[in-house]
Amino acid sequence: MKKFFAGLLVSCFTLNLSATETPYQAAIATAHPYATEAGREILELGGNAFDAAVAISAVLAVVEPYSSGLGGGGFWLLHRQSDQYQVMVDGRETAPESSSKNMYLDRAGNVIPGASINGPLAAAIPGVPAALFYINKHYGRISFADCLAPAIRYAREGFPVTDRYQKLAGYRLDELRRWPATAGIFLQDNDIPEKGHLIIQTDLADTLTRLARDGHTGFYGGPVAETLVKNVQLNRGIWKMRDLLHYRIKERRPVVAQYKRFRLVSAPPPSSGGIVLAQMLNMLERFNLSSFDPVSRKHIIVEVMRRAYRDRAVHLGDPDFVTVPVLRLLDPDYAEGLALSIDLDHATPSKDLSGVVAEENIGEDTTHFSVLDDEGNRVSATLSINLPFGSGFVANGTGILLNNEMDDFAIKPQTPKSYGLVGNEANSVAPGKRPLSSMSPTFLESEDEVAILGTPGGSRIITMVLLGILDFAEGNPPESWVSLPRFHHQYLPDELQFEKDGLTLPEQEQLRAYGHRLNEKNREYGNMQAILWYKPRQLVFAASDPRGEGAADVFDVIEQPRLARESSIP
Ligand code: DON
Repeated sequence: MKKFFAGLLVSCFTLNLSATETPYQAAIATAHPYATEAGREILELGGNAFDAAVAISAVLAVVEPYSSGLGGGGFWLLHRQSDQYQVMVDGRETAPESSSKNMYLDRAGNVIPGASINGPLAAAIPGVPAALFYINKHYGRISFADCLAPAIRYAREGFPVTDRYQKLAGYRLDELRRWPATAGIFLQDNDIPEKGHLIIQTDLADTLTRLARDGHTGFYGGPVAETLVKNVQLNRGIWKMRDLLHYRIKERRPVVAQYKRFRLVSAPPPSSGGIVLAQMLNMLERFNLSSFDPVSRKHIIVEVMRRAYRDRAVHLGDPDFVTVPVLRLLDPDYAEGLALSIDLDHATPSKDLSGVVAEENIGEDTTHFSVLDDEGNRVSATLSINLPFGSGFVANGTGILLNNEMDDFAIKPQTPKSYGLVGNEANSVAPGKRPLSSMSPTFLESEDEVAILGTPGGSRIITMVLLGILDFAEGNPPESWVSLPRFHHQYLPDELQFEKDGLTLPEQEQLRAYGHRLNEKNREYGNMQAILWYKPRQLVFAASDPRGEGAADVFDVIEQPRLARESSIP
């Protein structure tokens, strides 16, 4: 497959085949087979990629409760083929009005353990429901109720517990047990459910039904909002009705950069993803990577990661609150200077780069999906409730599991958090502010190709996407991008992390000799979902990370008669 695609690229360049602008086939890659099926169902119902994205997001909210949900947030990168319009729909959570910079510190200024991670105080105001309604209203083609119908079905009928569910529930078991409403839904007799056990979410089905019927206000006003606020306040949270009523989606212009033959289109602040990717590619452009042996190549990539993550820690935050020096960070001359500071034979100690500290990642929650419809519309979306099962808190009667995205703020500047990342003032807590994210939904575009990719993985998201991009640039297909062994550097802690068996022993030895401190993770990480449309031959490929339980599908869209397909809305 690998050679096949590389061969195609070469032959098509030499034949100079012209590109056409409609793929004829559609493709979907998501982290769960039910979500992939739901996306297909919506396209076959006459919906476009944006409708499919709404349906997929809603199904993932039901069947991957450890990764994303109505109680969380996300970024949807959209491309509309008819006018080439590109935008990122920012449905990131916002800090409640009563939040404050030092809210997670005790009187002595120390971080209160768990305060930004467990329970409702850790939860920011969710953006997913608003985003789904917004995307359907502004970009969709079929009704919101039709888009939410598959999710409502899965919430009512249930989905079976898998290995992944068991693993992630095990990871958060104490917190799931702590809240009766949570344990009642996600545990079986207060324990990790057996494989195949059906998780039925009747309250969530009712909440989704209300959202489908009443749109934005079905969540952010009325009984759902009131119940959320009441439950949060009863459990030492600080949400107010005003926080929900004021929540708004933001449309953001994506970060765009050129690397070799293709254009990178990725997530702008409040994600750090696009800027860090563009910076790394700008630096790498200064090296002819293919002329280096594999170890030197990895050394250069690691040094580039280190430098871009340093800037992440120093400069990035919510652009509505802080001035992010985007132009300077993306300036080719700046990249040139950083690239020149790379010593080809020695690791640069992070402490020798001025700046602040950077997150360590647990890495399998959060979710990404990629969609291409047969007209060429596309969506790259990464959604999160942060750690597995978010804050662990379900607001009784709503079925909504709240995020713990507040932990993505620099809760104590210069101090590493869940992902070991550091941050400073630019990412401190403030009312209404969006925490800095690493989620990096991405498109790559050349005359002949369109790629759609992204992954969960906290602070490691951006470096996983980088490795996928470099593999794409070498002419390899999505199957290869999603399964590559992964390595990572994030400035601080000053260590080169890699997946179990991700570097060979001789590679490890050589990298150590360069001065890198190695940290082999005892497992794999990430869950990349990717699509490639190769225009000259009208070929579409899709792949789902073998590390996860997802499904990728490439198909002809044959519109199905509506049959007796019932809308779930009474
Ligand atoms: O927005 C972020 O960067 C994080 N909340 C993402 C967390 C994540 O990817 C966790 N899992 N793998």
